Amino acid sequence: MNNQKIDITGKVILVTGANRGIGNALVEEALKRGAKLVYAGVRRPFTHPDPRVMSLTLDVTNPEQIRQAVEKVESLDILINNAGVAYYDDLSDRAVIEQHLAVNLFGTHDMIQAFLPLLLHSRGTIVNNLSMLSLAPLPPIASYSISKAAALSMTQSMRAYLAVKGVTVQAILTGPVDTDMNRGLDIPKIPTEVAAQNIFDGIELKQEEIFPDPLSKSLAEGWFNSSSKALERQNAASVSA
Ligand SMILES: NC(=O)c1ccc[n+]([C@@H]2O[C@H](COP(=O)([O-])OP(=O)(O)OC[C@H]3O[C@@H](n4cnc5c(N)ncnc54)[C@H](OP(=O)(O)O)[C@@H]3O)[C@@H](O)[C@H]2O)c1
Repeated sequence: MNNQKIDITGKVILVTGANRGIGNALVEEALKRGAKLVYAGVRRPFTHPDPRVMSLTLDVTNPEQIRQAVEKVESLDILINNAGVAYYDDLSDRAVIEQHLAVNLFGTHDMIQAFLPLLLHSRGTIVNNLSMLSLAPLPPIASYSISKAAALSMTQSMRAYLAVKGVTVQAILTGPVDTDMNRGLDIPKIPTEVAAQNIFDGIELKQEEIFPDPLSKSLAEGWFNSSSKALERQNAASVSA
């Protein structure tokens, strides 16, 4: 892991799914930490009192909206792929798997590819908000779990490809946070503000995986010392500069 810290002060940051939940808290935390400009990727009209926030119409499954967003963004230091969907399912309907992959995997993929020239130029950072379910599925949200596991694998390969080009790629292996996404679940959840603080602490420290809440944090030590993590590092060496 590269331990050199990054400073959010003066940075240009884009957050997808910025109108509510964790994404909205990430916008607020970026502002608190002195970001110069925060692009809020949203699917519906969105205004913010801070002039440093610029709204971008951005459904991450819509290639034309992504293209138009790229045209509006002059420079970018940190891309936070936060937009996501989660529906209950039991894998009996292939269309539900596809719905999850469209947003949680391909939406993230397409955003990265579209903004990569700007991130290569800034030697910037890509942060993908995944889930602790990337590591082990929760069967009642099986398709969601598939999409987050696939997105972790993509994140790991992108990390290897882009490290040699000076771009940092991080995964957030989020546990329960109090948002609309898990509104009906009666489990301990942390507030979005706390999640956002911990996520930005992890971004600043360039942690490859960020565990922003107590439940996911309980996995962190095991993950960083795991044979899976060791194999990821070994396999990353197959990418040459
Ligand atoms: N909450 C948790 O406990 C938890 C745990 C692990 C991981 N996560 C991850 O954290 C991220 C944020 O989740 P959240 O809990 O904040 O959920 P949320 O409150 O349901 O918010 C989801 C956000 O994603 C946006 N979104 C959905 N589909 C989109 C699309 N096609 N294009 C652009 N934006 C889209 C939504 O926009 P609209 O308002 O327009 O629908 C909304 O802003 C997700 O990736 C989620 O998987 C959350």
